[in-house]
This record gives sequence, structure tokens and C-alpha cells, in this order.
Amino acid sequence: MSPAAHPAGPRHASALPMTEAALEPPSDLAALSPKVWPLTATRRNGELVIGQVGTADLVQRFGTPAFILDRDDLHTRARDYQGAFDGADVFYAGKAFLCTSLAKWLSEDGLGLDVSSAGELAIALRAGVDPGRIALHGNNKSLAELQQAVDNQVGRIILDSHEEIDRLADIAAAAGRRQPVLIRVTVGVEAHTHEFIATAHEDQKFGFSLSSGEAMSAIEHVLARPELELSGLHSHIGSQIFDTSGFEVAAHRVIGLLADIRKEHDLELPEIDLGGGLGIAYTDTDDPQQPAAIAARLQAIIASECAQAGLSVPRLAVEPGRAIIGPAMITLYEVGTVKVITLDGGLQRTYVSVDGGMSDNIRTALYDAEYTVVLANRESAGPPVRARVVGKHCESGDIVVKDCWLPADIRAGDILAVAATGAYCFSMASNYNRLPRPPVVAVSRGVASEIVRRETLDQVLATDVGWSSPGIQPTTEVQA
Ligand code: LLP
Repeated sequence: MSPAAHPAGPRHASALPMTEAALEPPSDLAALSPKVWPLTATRRNGELVIGQVGTADLVQRFGTPAFILDRDDLHTRARDYQGAFDGADVFYAGKAFLCTSLAKWLSEDGLGLDVSSAGELAIALRAGVDPGRIALHGNNKSLAELQQAVDNQVGRIILDSHEEIDRLADIAAAAGRRQPVLIRVTVGVEAHTHEFIATAHEDQKFGFSLSSGEAMSAIEHVLARPELELSGLHSHIGSQIFDTSGFEVAAHRVIGLLADIRKEHDLELPEIDLGGGLGIAYTDTDDPQQPAAIAARLQAIIASECAQAGLSVPRLAVEPGRAIIGPAMITLYEVGTVKVITLDGGLQRTYVSVDGGMSDNIRTALYDAEYTVVLANRESAGPPVRARVVGKHCESGDIVVKDCWLPADIRAGDILAVAATGAYCFSMASNYNRLPRPPVVAVSRGVASEIVRRETLDQVLATDVGWSSPGIQPTTEVQA
């Protein structure tokens, strides 16, 4: 077994690390930090209320688990980004979460949409998003996806390989259309949360490497295909980033390439897209920057880099996904079982099992992500106990919130709310253990409405069509 693999069991039942054992419980277990919870989240007689709709009401109407989307939070955040990046383009990254209502609402707020598959593109088109405001991404777009994008006159396609340059140019030629494109450049910056590495090895699947000269050869390849209109350069350096310095290094390198293009081809490209990645608060200790501060910093660095290079300032685009949708959504779960485990050293941990888990939120298992959870259906005077919220799937890594404090009287039938589950939870959901996926319920000003229905077991089983070639039976060897 590789060191990274772990058997389903022992790793998660180990003693508490010293740092965790030393953590203090919060002074108020019911508190809803505005950093983490959606804009309208509040308590009424102890019950969590969001969009002026109470937890009991939501659970009664829509069941659990359920994603709840605070529309007011979403619009405020979308407009804040749009306002902060005035004069630039904000493309919402649909991979974080996408459905037709969301696509429609965000385009009404003035945002463009970044899609990365035929499915996401279909949602955008079905929502009536202006195709000119859609960007298509992906390192291995199929011919059908490229064709669908060209046929629908998608505003920009971000090119990721030499094969794709020829495939798209051929499709555009056949359609008699000149397709605007950007080239994805790998700038050698890798950023995650608080840190970035400016000399990161470009050992990954996306884009054309800047340092090896591949990016310039891709530019030349595109320039040789008149069916493609080269609008600019794209870079994406990572996700859940708190610090703008990684973007600054990326901007510096991308603008350096713009200057080289002008020198070698006497051409100034009109756009640079610095991708997504802006971080959000999952816990009270996370400190993301405000969109206005981020926008001002990026615009300033681009202006000064261009001034130094003697270039006119290109139009900026950004592609936030998590920062728009992440904090606007929460997940409600019902508690099914509660177990108190005594660990080495006598410390105790209360395992609270809920009716979802890694099928609706894989991020804790996959990235060691941290979340904030509260008791949502009632007030409790119980003292805080060290707790872990786990799902109902058949593996011990099925953890929703790894380390948290909950009231000691937590019991079956209680409702838990997990904050900031808008990004990469529903969109990465699965049917593991054949669980149907939860609904997404949008709330605003006392009104709650399902915008994505709960999957039914029939829908989950619908593709399971069984063996259907009459007359051919399994051989005895197969049976044995
Ligand atoms: N643009 C491009 C080209 C991207 O690849 C991504 C995310 C974004 C924009 C949006 O990034 P955001 O603003 O949401 O950080 N599943 C992981 C995150 C994967 C991000 C993939 N690309 C997670 O749950 O943390």
C-alpha cells in the first residue's frame, strides 16, 4: 500500500493531535459569524432562519440533506464583484456550482459565465445566457464540445493544446466563423490558500508552459490559423487563495509575454484573464480580502507592469467561482445517531452521524477541508463537546466536519447546518452507496423554492438497464 493510501479505519480513529486537544470551544455555540454564514442567516427563538425561512419549515417541505441558497447573499456578492471589477469582465466559474436559475440570475447581475463541458454549456444556453458572454474551458474538450461552442457563437474559447488549436480552427473554418480565443499559459505560479510558489514546476496537465517557450509556439500556431482570432492570454494559478501576491507574479509574467509578442509579432493583444481562485472563509479564522481590495491591487499591478513594458493596458477578466457561490449556500442535515468515543489519554469525541456525507460534500475527505457547523433547529443550553460530523457512507473517511464543538445534548432528529457549502459540493456530488443527490432550495424574503429537485431513487436507477442481448448466456467459465 502506498504511504498515501489508508485502510478504512485506523487512520481516523487515532488519538487527538496535541494542537487539536488544546483547542478551546467557542464562547457561544449558536453564534453565526457573518464571515462564514450567508448574509440573511440569523436566529429566531434559537432556530436558524435564512432568507426569512425557518429551518423547521425548510426541513418539512424539502427534507434533508438539502442545500439552501441565500439569494440575497448571492446577488450582493455578485454585484460586489461586478462593481469592484468595473471596467473588467467577471466570468462566474460554473464548475463551482451551476444550474439554470443561477446562470440566469448571475447573467442578470452582469456576470459572464465560464463553462468547461457540454453539460455546463447546455445549462448556460438553456438559461438564456448571451453566448457572447460565455467562455469555454477545458484541457480535453471533445470535438462535439468545440462544435457546440462554435455553432452557438460562444464568445471565447480558451485553448489548451496544439491539437485543439487545429481542431477548433477546422471547425471554425467549416462553420465560416472566426472564433475568438485565448491561450492558457502556465506561468509557473502555484497558489493555495495562504501560500504560493513562484517557481513551481510546471508538471501538470493545463495550458502551455511559459518557461519552456511552448506558450510562444502556441501563439504562433494560432496566428497561423486565420479562422482563430487571438484575443488574449489566460492564466489560472490555483484555488482558495487569500493573498494577491500569486496573482501579481502571474500578471507580471503574462504581461512579459504580451511584451514578447509585440516585439516578435508587432501585435498587442487586447485581453488578459487571470482566472479564478479567490478564497472564502470556511471558518472564523479564515480572512479573505474584500473584492474591491483585490480588484484595486490587480488593476494597479497590471497598469504598472504595462507602463514598464510600454504596452497599452489590456482589458482584465477574472473567473471567480467559489467566491461568488461558496458562502451563499449551506447544507441542512438530520442527525441519525450519536456515539461518544473515548480516545487515548481519556479525551472524548462525539461522533454525530448525519443523513448525507461524502456523496454531497467530498471536500473534507478529498482536501482535508474545514467547515463550520451549528445546531440549527433549536436552542441548547448543553455544554460544548468535542465533536465530529460524519456521513452515512461505508468508510471511515466519510467526514463532513472533522473537528467542531456541538452542544452535549445533541440527539437524533436534530438538524445541523454546515456553512459555506455552495462551491464544489453539489457540483462534485455523487451517488456513492446509491444515495440520490440532495435538492438545492433558493430562499429569499420568506419564499423558498427548489431550483434543483432532489433526485429520486428511480432516477438513480434509471441507467441500470441490465443485460439485454437475448440468446447470449454467460459461459460456464464466467459463471465459475
Ligand atoms: N477558472 C479556471 C480556469 C479554473 O480552473 C477554476 C477552478 C476557476 C476559474 C474557479 O476557481 P475558484 O474561484 O472557484 O477557486 N474542487 C476544488 C477546486 C477546484 C478548482 C478548479 N478550477 C475545491 O473544492 O476546492
